[in-house]
Amino acid sequence: DKGGFPHFMLKEIHEQPTVIRTLIERYIDKSQYCVKPLPLSFDPNTIERMAFVACGTAYHAGLLGKYWMESLANLPVDVDIASEYRYRDLIQPKQGVFVAFSQSGETADTLAALRRAKSENQHIVSVVNVESSSMARESTDRLPTCAGAEIGVASTKAFIAQCVVALCLAIYVGRQRGTMDAATEHDIVTALLALPNQIENSIHHIEPIQQIAYAMAPANDVLFLGRGRHYPIALEAALKLKEISYIHAEGYAAGEMKHGAIALIDGHVPVVCLCPSDNLLEKSLSNMQEVMARKAQVVLVAEESVCQSNKTAHHIIIPSVHPVIAPILSVVPMQLLAYYTALALGKDVDQPRNLAKSVTVE
Ligand code: M6R
Repeated sequence: DKGGFPHFMLKEIHEQPTVIRTLIERYIDKSQYCVKPLPLSFDPNTIERMAFVACGTAYHAGLLGKYWMESLANLPVDVDIASEYRYRDLIQPKQGVFVAFSQSGETADTLAALRRAKSENQHIVSVVNVESSSMARESTDRLPTCAGAEIGVASTKAFIAQCVVALCLAIYVGRQRGTMDAATEHDIVTALLALPNQIENSIHHIEPIQQIAYAMAPANDVLFLGRGRHYPIALEAALKLKEISYIHAEGYAAGEMKHGAIALIDGHVPVVCLCPSDNLLEKSLSNMQEVMARKAQVVLVAEESVCQSNKTAHHIIIPSVHPVIAPILSVVPMQLLAYYTALALGKDVDQPRNLAKSVTVE
């Protein structure tokens, strides 16, 4: 049942505020503005490092989780694509934690990576949506993402849910390890509580995104640039666009662009620049100037004041939020951009060619 929406993907994008509210109930103590104790069978103080392992969109959630875990919990994290992790000569820490991120909990490579980590004495945590799945069953610790059934092949609400759980994990581990003060936790949790309403508001301002989607539809290539916590969002935005519109898209760390990708840029290549108001804003804007100098059609994704002071071909305004949670908000217009671009091209949004919802074979 699409609940009155033309596609499951759009329905699931619209369900994201509800999913976050469900996760807040489960993981947040709203009276104390902190993360509730998590059911972990290891002591975060004894851990040497963590491995976040996943495929596709779930990998991007893991990558974002690394930024949070390292900054809030001061704990090193290796992020791996499951098909690489499972066959590599790994150097496993004695006190290591393996975290699998997966919507289905059945992805063949992620499951095989989990089994390998388990056989190599790592603590196993699963951040999965399907609670009866193989990964959930085979893990010692489970942090469910509670997003409800996701039908659209392009993952949207499951991604947002994975990000929220990854953030809660980083906050909790940070608190246990004494690397994050109570005031920081209070501020981030306050921002998280406001997130469902902010996403609801942003989903209803679709006209500028639809216009950009029409302008983007004829493109052969699109680049998404982001730094820091917005680098995983650039990767995710590119994956969303390519899987449902079939336009070649790449997500790039903005600072890496001049090491190769800038050669692609001319007046026909739209470049989406994710420029949230954080400590990297000036660097991100200077990367944007570099692509503008090569005549790229720039879509600036930024707060209103930043959009006003930068004349680019297109703007997507994002509300002013705590920089730590900003990526969870800015992915939403990226999902909508992919959706409307695919729609403009007449593609099958929910069932893109060559793709299956759950990849249970290698
Ligand atoms: O079920 P999983 O989260 O393990 O699936 C992983 C990927 O196959 C999945 O995220 C895929 O990349 C999506 N189609 C992306 O939208």
